[in-house]
Order: sequence, then C-alpha cells, then structure tokens
Amino acid sequence: MNILRDKQILLGVCGSIAAYKVAELARNLTLAEARVDVVMTAAAQQFVGPATFQALTRRPVLTDMWALPEDGVVGHVSLGAHTDLIVIAPATANTLARLAAGISDDLLTTAVLATRAPVLCAPAMNPNMYVNAATQENIATLRRRGMLVLEPNEGLMAEPVTGRGRLPEPAALEGEIRALLGRRHGPLRGRRVVVTAGGTHEPIDPVRFIGNRSSGQMGYAMAACARDAGAHVTLVSGPTALTPPAAVEVVRVDTALHMRDAVLDACTGADILIMNAAVADFRPGHMIDHKIKKTGEEGMILHLALNPDILGEMAHRRDLFKVGFAAETDDLIANARVKLERKGLNLIIANDAVASIGRPDIQVTILDGVEIYTLPIQTKPQAAATIIDEVVQRFNRWLAHARLPASEMPADTDE
Ligand code: CTP
Repeated sequence: MNILRDKQILLGVCGSIAAYKVAELARNLTLAEARVDVVMTAAAQQFVGPATFQALTRRPVLTDMWALPEDGVVGHVSLGAHTDLIVIAPATANTLARLAAGISDDLLTTAVLATRAPVLCAPAMNPNMYVNAATQENIATLRRRGMLVLEPNEGLMAEPVTGRGRLPEPAALEGEIRALLGRRHGPLRGRRVVVTAGGTHEPIDPVRFIGNRSSGQMGYAMAACARDAGAHVTLVSGPTALTPPAAVEVVRVDTALHMRDAVLDACTGADILIMNAAVADFRPGHMIDHKIKKTGEEGMILHLALNPDILGEMAHRRDLFKVGFAAETDDLIANARVKLERKGLNLIIANDAVASIGRPDIQVTILDGVEIYTLPIQTKPQAAATIIDEVVQRFNRWLAHARLPASEMPADTDE
C-alpha cells in the first residue's frame, strides 16, 4: 500500500526563506507517485523560482490568478475542488492572517477558500511573529475550523536568532501528509496499533549495560507504515539513534521491565500489537549503584535474572491481533512456528538474525499458522510495507471470525 499513489496534492508555497526546503518535499511526494500541483505566492517567488518546482514535480507551477487555462475554465476557483489535500508550507504569518479572515486575494487563498479537501498548514516565520497574539489567534481560528496547523520547530533561524519558527524537515512534513491521508483513506483508519522497536538496555552499573545490535530500523518502518494505513500508532521504542516517524506517539523506554509496563499501558484499547523489539531475555540480577572496579587479576561472574516475556504475557488478550518477530540463527521456520503457537500469535515474521540485525536490508518469512511465504531481500521500509498489507488482510479476516488466535482460525473459506 502506498497512501500517496495517485493522490492529488496542492502544495502552496509562501514567502519565507524556508521555501527552499519544500522543494525536497515536492520531489519526494512526486517520487512517491502523488500528483503535486505547486501554487506559489508572489512573495514565495522572491525566494525560490517556479522552475525549481516545475522540474521536480514535472508539472506547471501556478503563480497567476488570472492566467486562463487552455480549456477556458476559470482555474483559480476549481483548483481546490479536484484535490485530495492542500498543503501550505511554509505558511507565513501574512497567509495565515488572510486565511483566518477569509480573504481570497491570490491563487492560493482562493483555492483554500473554495476547497472541501483537508488543509495542512506548516507555519514558518520569525519567532516573535510566531508568538505574536495576532498570529496565535489566527492559528487558533484555523484549527477550530478543522485545519491541521503544525507546530514549527525550535532552533537557529536564518536571521540569526534562536526560537520557535523553523519549518519542520521535509521528511516530517511528508510523514504528517501520509498520516492525514491515511486517516481519511487508509485501511486501518480508526484503529489503534502498538509497535515496539529497538533493543533494550539492561543496566549492570551506572555506566554499563547488556544490550544487542538492534538498530530499531524495522520497528520504526513498521510504525510509519501502520500510520500511513491510517492507524493511531504508539511506538514503544528502546534506545536507538533514529528520528521517530512523524505523527506517531512515541514512548521511550530502556529496559525490558520498562518496555513491559509501556506495552501493557499502550495496549489498553488497542487493536493490534506488533512486537518487533529485540527484548533482552536476561538482566543483571541486581544493579550495582557504583561503577564496578577491577580487583586484581580475577574475572567476574555476573548473575542474570530472567526478564518477562512481554508478548507471552499478552497471550490472554484475545481481543488483540498480535504480531511477533522471530530472529533466529538456526531452524528459522520450526522455531518461528513454536513461537507463533506458544505466544498465541496471529502472525509471526521470521528472519535470519545475523543477516538482518542492525542492517538496512532484510529477508522475511511470514507465517500465520496456515500459510507461509518468503519475501525477497529488500529494504526494511519495503518489507514493512508488505508486512502491514498482510497484517491488514489477516486482521480483517480475524475480525470477521470473532478475534481468534492463529491456531484456532479456520482456513480461508472465501472461495
Ligand atoms: N519477546 C518479548 N519479550 C521477551 C522476548 C521476546 O515480547 N522477553 C518478543 C519479541 O519482541 C518477538 C518475539 O517475542 O516478537 C520472539 O522473540 P525472540 O527473541 O525471537 O524469542 P524468545 O521469546 O526470546 O525465545 P528464544 O530466546 O528461545 O529465541
């Protein structure tokens, strides 16, 4: 599933130095097969030329309210009518004010006023302009009317001053766009999905821990795909170096015990649990509160206690569709089957631990108690997209069969 495919997006660019960042957004949306029509205000053209957007979107850039299209229809009013989403990025204080007042004195504001499509606004401006009561009241007005207005980032501005007013990065904007489209069109809209990612750190003393090589890439990609499918996603993440996907709720944990608490909490009212985290099976029996010192030539023995099996403890949750991962070094399928059964899962994703942990690519085998098939080696985001498609199909079937675990699901009787 690619939530951006064939979506018509009107991208309104206003006069802010951040306009250059949106060129990358226009490119990425186009590469993801959306049809992007860029509308530039007069001020925007002082910062970036229309030729940049035209080359990146491979479509004419719209700048003039009175340029009549060849078919003779007055374009500026119909522009917003045939669109799935209007994105205004960067949105200046001036454009926000005109939108809040309902003024339509250029192509962009006219299109917004005349549309029934959702509108996503990403303000970017001088921090004093942003906190000004006029701007804040305008934003509150637009939000009250249903517009999604993002918070700008905090940091160093072009001026240079530091404050809140920076445009979010293109990847974050794309994530927000995907989430919004997912919530309207995605197969998991209205559903709550919990995804765990990364490894856990089990402390030995204040500076050392037991961990593993999990990078979190697969879990983060799964969370992004579930979000694109329209779900409200809670990402319970062990320590990683990754930036979380936009528009997902992130709960950061470090140990397996913390992860268990966070998962139990997040799963209240959830529909699907995707347990991708590489949870440490053992933790040091007791944490030593000072840095352990070498004493003489002796080595040391560390006593390890067993951590809870988080997924195993969820076996009684028959109202939850559960997806596990099995990272194995030997007997991949046999071991995965045992875990599917033992943990009462609906689906398990098996993969070779050595070939995939911490790496950008993965080869997965999907097992659901009846079917089993192996995907080719692909990037983790590609594999995650396919897995979410499978989850969606099986989740719907499971709903229709009164929420049974894989071992009790009847074979597909559609034919
Ligand atoms: N898992 C869990 N809690 C643990 C260990 C694992 O919830 N303490 C979850 C993982 O997130 C994964 C599935 O259980 O979805 C299988 O994890 P894996 O490490 O492959 O298996 P284990 O249960 O640890 O079994 P073994 O050590 O025998 O491989």
